Amino acid sequence: MPANYNNSAWFYDRLSRLVYGKALIKAQVYLLRFIPPNSNILIVGGGTGWILDEIVNIHPSGLQITYVEIAPKMMALSKKRKAGNNRVIFINEAIEDVRLLPDFDVIITPFLFDNFTEQTFKQVFNHIHSFLKPGGLWLNCDFQLKGKWWQKGLLKSMFLFFRMICDIEASALPDVNNQFNQCGYKAIASQTFFGEFIISQVYKQG
Ligand SMILES: C[S@@+](CC[C@H](N)C(=O)[O-])C[C@H]1O[C@@H](n2cnc3c(N)ncnc32)[C@H](O)[C@@H]1O
Repeated sequence: MPANYNNSAWFYDRLSRLVYGKALIKAQVYLLRFIPPNSNILIVGGGTGWILDEIVNIHPSGLQITYVEIAPKMMALSKKRKAGNNRVIFINEAIEDVRLLPDFDVIITPFLFDNFTEQTFKQVFNHIHSFLKPGGLWLNCDFQLKGKWWQKGLLKSMFLFFRMICDIEASALPDVNNQFNQCGYKAIASQTFFGEFIISQVYKQG
C-alpha cells in the first residue's frame, strides 16, 4: 500500500515548520544551486510544491520540470505554485507506475525515501535511477541517525505519527548511501542541518 499524504496536505508544511523551523526548507534550497540552467528535471514527492516557488527564484525560465506526486491533495496545492517561464508537467501517480524516458539531467527526491521499507526503497530507487542521463545529478535529502539521543526518539515519533495519519510502511530509514554507491554514484557535495539529523547530498553518476 503506498503512503497516503492526502490526510496531511492541509497541515504538513505548518507541522514540519513547527518541529524543524526552516531546516527542511534550507536542506532543499541548498540542493537547488546545483541545477544547471536549461536542464530537464524530475521531482518526486514534492509535497505541497513549495520547492517549485524556490526553483523559480533561482531559475525563472529555461527548465523543463516533471513533477510526480502521488497524493491528489498535495498535487492540487502544487499546481497553484509559481512556475515562471519554466515548463512543468504534473503527474499525479506513484512514481513506480510512471514510465519516463531516460532523459533527465537532474533528479530531486526530497524526503521521499523515508516512506519506504528497505525492499520497496530499492525497487523505487532503481526505477527512478533508470530515468537519469549518464553523468546526471541526483539531489537527495532525508533524515539520518548520527548517534545523538534525541534523533532516535524524534525519528520514532515521526514514523509512528505518519503511519497513523498517512499509512506509511516504513519504521526505519533505508540504507540510501549504500544504494547510491552500489549503483555507481559518487557524492560530490553534501551539507547537514538540524544537528546533523538532516542531510542533503548531491550525487553524480559515473
Ligand atoms: C515526507 S513528504 C515530503 C514532502 C516534500 N518533499 C517536503 O519536504 O515538504 C513525502 C511526499 O512524497 C509523496 N510520495 C510518497 N510516496 C510516493 C510515491 N511512491 N510516488 C510519488 N510520490 C510519493 C507523498 O505524497 C508526500 O507528498
